[in-house]
Amino acid sequence: MKIGVLGTGMVGSAIASKLVALGHEVRMGAREAGNEKARRWAESAGKGASAGTFADAAKFGEIVFSATLGTAALDALRAAGRENLRGKILVDVSNPLDFSKGAPPTLFTGPNDSLGERIQKELPETKVVKALNTVNAGVMGDPGRLSGESDLFVCGNDPGAKERVRALLAEFGWRSVIDLGDIAGARATEAYLLLWLRLYGALKTADFNVRVVRPGRG
Ligand SMILES: NC(=O)c1ccc[n+]([C@@H]2O[C@H](COP(=O)([O-])OP(=O)(O)OC[C@H]3O[C@@H](n4cnc5c(N)ncnc54)[C@H](OP(=O)(O)O)[C@@H]3O)[C@@H](O)[C@H]2O)c1
Repeated sequence: MKIGVLGTGMVGSAIASKLVALGHEVRMGAREAGNEKARRWAESAGKGASAGTFADAAKFGEIVFSATLGTAALDALRAAGRENLRGKILVDVSNPLDFSKGAPPTLFTGPNDSLGERIQKELPETKVVKALNTVNAGVMGDPGRLSGESDLFVCGNDPGAKERVRALLAEFGWRSVIDLGDIAGARATEAYLLLWLRLYGALKTADFNVRVVRPGRG
């Protein structure tokens, strides 16, 4: 598949590298053509890897990942271009973290709002699926590095889009993906970051995830 990845940070690199390793063609996008990180990633990732602007990556991808700084995610998507994302699946990995007062960050969205919903509202003709934002970049494409099985969450308004994302996540190694319903489910998975950040402080590692246990499922 041809996949666009908007973002040159830890998440963009981790997802783009995993996709190339799986045999997909991937274009990483940045604000500027010739972005140093994107260029170096494309050179090192091997066959199927290329780099361009946010718009280049959005146009290239049949599916596009949004992995940019939360406070800049909407600007990055505007630069990517509504027309380049029309009718496509956009996997939103971003979190609405506000570091303006230092660490730990707060959320710049309220409890009855989410970045996922803001993105869906900005791009009404794009099928936004929120996923992967609840785990660290290193875990996203390598869930097996954690001992035991753990859960990932998806939400979005289009059932077919969620199924396609679930299939892609299965390629990443995710066997348990819980569908939380429409894109308003992003309120829950983004607010989970408050717990994630506390767990990170307590455990002193980002290599962790949650598992939902219930009768008959340990
Ligand atoms: N780090 C993690 O483990 C992790 C885990 C889960 C979710 N997330 C979320 O995933 C997203 C990406 O995180 P990250 O740590 O990989 O990188 P990041 O530093 O949060 O974001 C880097 C990307 O944001 C773009 N960007 C920065 N300022 C911008 C602006 N003013 N306008 C447009 N684009 C701008 C950069 O563009 P250029 O390429 O042009 O510089 C770059 O591509 C974030 O929303 C984060 O909360 C992160």
